Amino acid sequence: MTTQIKDLAHYKELYKQSVENPEQFWDKEAQTFTWFEQYDKVCEWNFTEPKVKWFINGKMNISYDCLDRHLPDKADQVAILWEPNEPTDQATSYTYQELHDEVCKCANALKNFGIGKGDRVIIYMPMLAELAIVLLACSRIGAVHSVVYCGFSAQAIADRTDDAQAKMIICSDYNKRGHKNIPVKAVVDEAMNIGCNSVETVLVHKNTGGEVNWSDDVDRWWHDEVPNQSPFCAAEEMDAEDLHFILYTSGSTGKPKGVVHTCGGYMVYSCFTFRNVFQYKPGDIYWCSADIGWITGHSYIVYGPLLAGASSLMFEGVPTYPDAGRFWEVCEKYKVNQFYTAPTAIRALMAHGDSFPAKYDLSSIKVLGSVGEPINEEAWHWYNDKVGKGKAPIVDTYFQTENGGIMITPFPGITDTKPTYASYPMPGIQPILVDKDGKEIKENNVEGLLCIKHPWPSILRTTYGDHERCRQTYFSTFKNLYFTGDGARRDEEGRLRIIGRVDDVINVSGHRMGTAEVENAINEHPSVIESAVVGYPHPIKGQGIYAYVISVDKELNDEFRKEINAVVAREIGPIAKPDVIQFVTGLPKTRSGKIMRRVLRKIASNEADKIGDLTTLRNPEVVESIKQGVLV
Ligand code: WT7
Repeated sequence: MTTQIKDLAHYKELYKQSVENPEQFWDKEAQTFTWFEQYDKVCEWNFTEPKVKWFINGKMNISYDCLDRHLPDKADQVAILWEPNEPTDQATSYTYQELHDEVCKCANALKNFGIGKGDRVIIYMPMLAELAIVLLACSRIGAVHSVVYCGFSAQAIADRTDDAQAKMIICSDYNKRGHKNIPVKAVVDEAMNIGCNSVETVLVHKNTGGEVNWSDDVDRWWHDEVPNQSPFCAAEEMDAEDLHFILYTSGSTGKPKGVVHTCGGYMVYSCFTFRNVFQYKPGDIYWCSADIGWITGHSYIVYGPLLAGASSLMFEGVPTYPDAGRFWEVCEKYKVNQFYTAPTAIRALMAHGDSFPAKYDLSSIKVLGSVGEPINEEAWHWYNDKVGKGKAPIVDTYFQTENGGIMITPFPGITDTKPTYASYPMPGIQPILVDKDGKEIKENNVEGLLCIKHPWPSILRTTYGDHERCRQTYFSTFKNLYFTGDGARRDEEGRLRIIGRVDDVINVSGHRMGTAEVENAINEHPSVIESAVVGYPHPIKGQGIYAYVISVDKELNDEFRKEINAVVAREIGPIAKPDVIQFVTGLPKTRSGKIMRRVLRKIASNEADKIGDLTTLRNPEVVESIKQGVLV
């Protein structure tokens, strides 16, 4: 097993080693995994191309290390616990042996469909245990999975499938979420109609048994193909730098890009971070409430915990069904020891009052985690006091899809915690703050742009099919640095606080959204001439989506707003629908024709008095009229 930090001195010592000799440090951690063939070099890198390689020429398989490696001593230990949406439905669990067998069956079925090493598979499934099984089955045969969050639209599936040139889509029939029974297969059908020409097979898992349309040419039932397979499937020998998965994420321009992670580095880093951030001990029950559609779910529901031989709980439902006590009921039911969720969920539950967490026995909880967006002070205290009863340290973990695993975090029981501060770098992570010219700011008690100086094993390798975009986005702003796109503050003692994105990316309920992407969707409405989207502070979601829309041939009313929302839901998904739509007659533009978003952001945030200098605007008169019509 990878090293587990014991105390503050140990953290400091490991951190020092990791900076002074990164190769030696990661070599030692990597040696705790199974290498079918040893690597001959730990790391090779430059941030100019960029080119980053870890564990060069090493041969391994991540599903082998998640499953087979544990069979000698943990065959009967629970690997995955699954809690259904309906509290009265049957919960299930899989031991390491059972999970191994199910993964092998699924892997054999995929092979029968001609899926092999390097083939891309799109996965569009709700939070069923089968989703974790599919990920591991792909890993086992070397197929590259790309999970598309189950709330995204048909268009979003088609875009990703076409970009990845996937041979297969795996989905379910329906998705049970709270009171809703949401069609899933029907969305895939629509995606297949508008694109997805590379897809040969759609494998459908029957979840609710509701009606579905069927095409004998491509559609296959899971229950016809998977259960009758052999429970043995040799793990494909993968090169450490072979593609492991693609996960699409939004940027400040254009369509979402496919962040590429490779096998070896991701294995080492996801396990190392999991064990240290959550201080997982044998016998603990660990629960991350994220969706596997996001990087948090990949690294901290599936790979990190299973690599560490942990018992990981998966939950199908939502925090407020049947009521706002569900999370706490589940914590009590399973005696959860580490609970990991997002600030949005905490704020939403906090709004329902203290009585819900008070009703349940939460004494098993040792560590509370937060991820995905800044956690405000009020939510931090509520989580700390009402859920953790002041006894469970909060780990405010910072990372990004591109990072593969947690970068900055407190260590529970080891370092201190401070509300709103993600605090300290993981061993192996060298964060620095720079000013806008890229000059490092060395003092404390400052704000700056957050960059990382040295690669870590699970840094993204490229953006799928477009390496230049990867270089441009992360490695071109500042020479020899990975730029996160986030601003951060460093306090007197060196703790880091993430302030938020400094680019045109917004974070809505922990979901990352490109303003350009939402604008492009809005502009698909035939009556929209132009639009501009910005984020604004939202009490529950962290940031809300504020859209300014120009139209001349439509009545500017709620009916039109609904139509715009429907277009956005169709193009991206319901999570991208604007919270506010303000109709305007013009947008503030510079002389070169660029929208001045700074002005729009201030107006949407009710800070019109802080707009500042407008002399570079071509049409300053429009600002006054937008201010008059502001809707928040
Ligand atoms: C962006 C990455 C981390 C997995 C889920 C989101 C923001 C993430 C924190 C935190 C403040 C945070 C950043 C980052 N973010 N964690 N603890 N405190 N901000 O992954 O969708 O790739 O988004 O989320 O702005 O850049 P993602």
